[in-house]
Amino acid sequence: MILSVEDLRELAKRRVPRAIFDYADGGAYEERTLRRNGADLDALTFRQRVMIDVSNISLATNFLGAAASMPLGIGPTGLAGLFHADGEIVGARAAAACGIPFCLSTMSICSIEDVRAATKQPFWFQQYLMKDRGFNQELIDRAAAAQCSALMLTLDLQVIGERRRDPRNGLTIPPRLNLRNAVDVAMRPSWALGMLFGKRRTFGNLVGRIGGTSGIRTLAEWTATQFDASANWRDVEWVRSRWPGKLILKGVLDAEDARFGVAAGADAIVVSNHGGRQLDGAPSTISVLPEIVDAVGGRCEVLFDGGIRSGQDIAKALALGARGALIGKSFLFALAAAGEAGVTKAIEIMRNELRVTLALTGTTSVDAVGPHILRAGHTQSRPL
Ligand SMILES: Cc1cc2nc3c(=O)[nH]c(=O)nc-3n(C[C@H](O)[C@H](O)[C@H](O)COP(=O)(O)O)c2cc1C
Repeated sequence: MILSVEDLRELAKRRVPRAIFDYADGGAYEERTLRRNGADLDALTFRQRVMIDVSNISLATNFLGAAASMPLGIGPTGLAGLFHADGEIVGARAAAACGIPFCLSTMSICSIEDVRAATKQPFWFQQYLMKDRGFNQELIDRAAAAQCSALMLTLDLQVIGERRRDPRNGLTIPPRLNLRNAVDVAMRPSWALGMLFGKRRTFGNLVGRIGGTSGIRTLAEWTATQFDASANWRDVEWVRSRWPGKLILKGVLDAEDARFGVAAGADAIVVSNHGGRQLDGAPSTISVLPEIVDAVGGRCEVLFDGGIRSGQDIAKALALGARGALIGKSFLFALAAAGEAGVTKAIEIMRNELRVTLALTGTTSVDAVGPHILRAGHTQSRPL
């Protein structure tokens, strides 16, 4: 019985090989920040309110001027197409049908053009700053040609945090069958068949675009050779000057950086620590959200990610000032568990949880959510 995102996670564990599951489930180094994201959200408690008319509750909102049915979006995740055949297309379709935004990663399996051809709603496109700025320009042009409604520039991956589960599991792209994983794969026949008969198994946006991609087998290897460790705010301004549409800056965890982001022309920032996959020992996103909202002072939208597994978590992020929340792992678990139906299920579970949470805190719309729905004094990181 699937009643929660955790149920989808358990199902995902059984549906995809360990290396794929762990790639989503894990974080960097000792995974402290990964755990903190969830623990600090859990530590927040709601103020239960009673005898308020909650017979009509509105979850509708908008992101960057576009209507959304609830304050939730699917964030960019590399390799989604390895969790389920054509995973990015499937995810974009589910998001569109549920009325929420979908962001495609540069490191996706389905390319920008694949997703554009297979979907009707505009989607967001995420990119990193590459050493080869010509390639960034090319990606910007491709996103514009695909009529992407926003460009998301990720700022927190100039170098890659070591995700230790990946080398331990021997994760390669495309996945390879070897003696170590043969039994694991054989026990997951529907995944194996999906991959075997699926057209796409490697980085769709990169193949054939930069010399030598065919020899690249791991994400860490690709990142080390292509991402620009010297990138700085002037480069963000460069992207701003090249992209005429809405610009989202993702990976802000510090109030001063938030101010720089606003000055660089961001339409939105995403408070994010990459789901605990980069700087281990960094604070949880929920613990820094209030100071970042304060620093931004309404000059751009503030989105939030990190540890969102339920509608309650979304309500907590809204209470501390976010306009909406994005999901990474919850999306991938749902995708691995049951493809498009799984992603739809995850969104609907979160929608219902959010609706009930608003009702029981005496709140009738997402616009009316504020810090008053939380009990005071529970926002500090605690040692794990
Ligand atoms: C498997 C995986 C791959 C990811 N790939 C990307 C990516 O390509 N680009 C990016 O900006 N963020 C990427 N992220 C980070 C997510 O966009 C998001 O910040 C994070 O997952 C949020 O935390 P959550 O997983 O707890 O929801 C990835 C996250 C995961 C779990």
